[in-house]
Amino acid sequence: MTALQTEVLSSDAAGLARAACLLAEGGLVAFPTETVYGLGADACNDLAVAKIYEAKGRPSFNPLIVHLPDLEAARSLCEFTPDAERLADAFWPGALTLVLPLRQGSGVSRLVTAGLDTLAIRVPDHPVAQGLLRAFGGPVAAPSANPSGKISPTRAAHVTAGLGGRIEAVVDGGNCGVGLESTIIGCLPRPTLLRAGGLPEEAIEACLGYPLAQSLGATDNPVAPGQLESHYAPAGKVRLDADRAQPGEILLGFGPVVAPINLSPSGDLVEAASRLFGCLHELDAMGAERIAVSPIPDHGLGRAINDRLRRAAAPRP
Ligand code: TXA
Ligand code: MG
Repeated sequence: MTALQTEVLSSDAAGLARAACLLAEGGLVAFPTETVYGLGADACNDLAVAKIYEAKGRPSFNPLIVHLPDLEAARSLCEFTPDAERLADAFWPGALTLVLPLRQGSGVSRLVTAGLDTLAIRVPDHPVAQGLLRAFGGPVAAPSANPSGKISPTRAAHVTAGLGGRIEAVVDGGNCGVGLESTIIGCLPRPTLLRAGGLPEEAIEACLGYPLAQSLGATDNPVAPGQLESHYAPAGKVRLDADRAQPGEILLGFGPVVAPINLSPSGDLVEAASRLFGCLHELDAMGAERIAVSPIPDHGLGRAINDRLRRAAAPRP
């Protein structure tokens, strides 16, 4: 990957306009929220979202949180249960992320949800994050803006130290107040604690009037999310490292091979990552019972692609 000149933008109107423009062009822009700095990309742009994983060096495709300016924008992407409405009313904007059923036709990249039919969404309580979301005018996917396995950043300087040269820009909005990631609650439909975070569990339970179900560790362990049983796998049986399809198999190609579906004919790992979940869904739609997959180089984003494919190929219960 060629090094980028990471711009440090001010949080005034001109800085936010520049940041929104970079997002619209498919660039990566880190920005402050009240919890930690997020690494933002246009949530509807597959390639931009793939670049998040590449910049962070994430070895697997964790689903990402989508940031929105308000509840109304959130309602257009997800189905809200009455409990979810109550929590959003009480705590948004704020350090609460809700995992809800994704609406059909939301336009959100499948790489954001890692192929799941649920979406994590949050309305941040930070004037700079709010300003950027409004200037951009669409959903912004953003994990914490640190290299995979490193500490979450709470200042612009932390972001440039970790990701400088790998992202287009960071908006400098000073220190994050909370300094801890958001609390994640699944509402599918029973309110369940998926990750402890900046908003105390007690406050959430007081609002609901009953205890949360607990599923800690299911989502916050860097290895665990991809292992969630609900994680998307195609219906067909998957065979990896295949030079060609055997009779009865459909080849999911990579690079210059003859295949009905190809992750990236030019062998570009960022393109391959951006198309992975879409291609797996397409194979399902074709009724593929046996899927052969071309070898994928095991470096950079290839590691995350191979991780996902190995899970898809693993024996199923
Ligand atoms: O405070 C925060 O939440 C920060 C700021 C930037 O908003 N963001 C953040 O994102 O911490 P990240 O990517 O580091 O953590 C997202 C977590 C992951 O553990 C992921 O597994 C979980 O959210 N997650 C996302 N979508 C999910 C889904 N559909 N179901 C279950 N867990 C999900
Ligand atoms: Mg993180």
